[in-house]
Amino acid sequence: MELVIASNNKNKIREIKAILGASIEQIYSLFDLGIHCDPEETAEDFLGNALIKARAIARFTEKAVIADDSGLMVDCLDGAPGVHSARYAGENATDAENNALLLKNMEGLSPRTAKYVATMVLLYPDGMYKVGTGDVRGEIITEARGAGGFGYDPYFYSYDLKKTFGEATAEEKNAVSHRANALHDLLKKI
Ligand code: IMP
Repeated sequence: MELVIASNNKNKIREIKAILGASIEQIYSLFDLGIHCDPEETAEDFLGNALIKARAIARFTEKAVIADDSGLMVDCLDGAPGVHSARYAGENATDAENNALLLKNMEGLSPRTAKYVATMVLLYPDGMYKVGTGDVRGEIITEARGAGGFGYDPYFYSYDLKKTFGEATAEEKNAVSHRANALHDLLKKI
């Protein structure tokens, strides 16, 4: 199978390619195909947003499209930032701004337990699709540790790895991550 990853996020593309590598013949990113498309994520859940991204890209290609929507859900914030993780501190917020707001909003609250969640959609050219979901659990620490990964990773202490995703190598993160779990769940269904 040939497929296109419907994301402009280079970190995500790298992770998805690394995880899928062996099982898919040819994986293209939007950059590889020169597709410029960044649809607005207007749905209120992860599946809705993943489908928005997949369907937007499907208009440009005959190949199957894989899209994910993911986010961080913090228990003491009732699941926030959730679907709003990328733009928690505003429309074009940087990772540093999102992290700063997260820590501020969590001040004095407990428990600091959290999970990353991912929904992965594979959309076939005929419009049918399959869905995989995954999560990974941990907690939000108050001081950044490590500079690896992206987004909230330096503050996400993984219970599986016993260190933050910021301190983990790409291989370590990919072995336990929400995106890896969602991809493996999806692969079981195709
Ligand atoms: P999406 O591109 O709309 O799926 O936004 C996902 C957002 O959730 C990212 O911009 C990050 O803020 C956060 N996020 C999702 N997965 C990860 C991860 O693996 N590490 C760090 N942050 C993540």
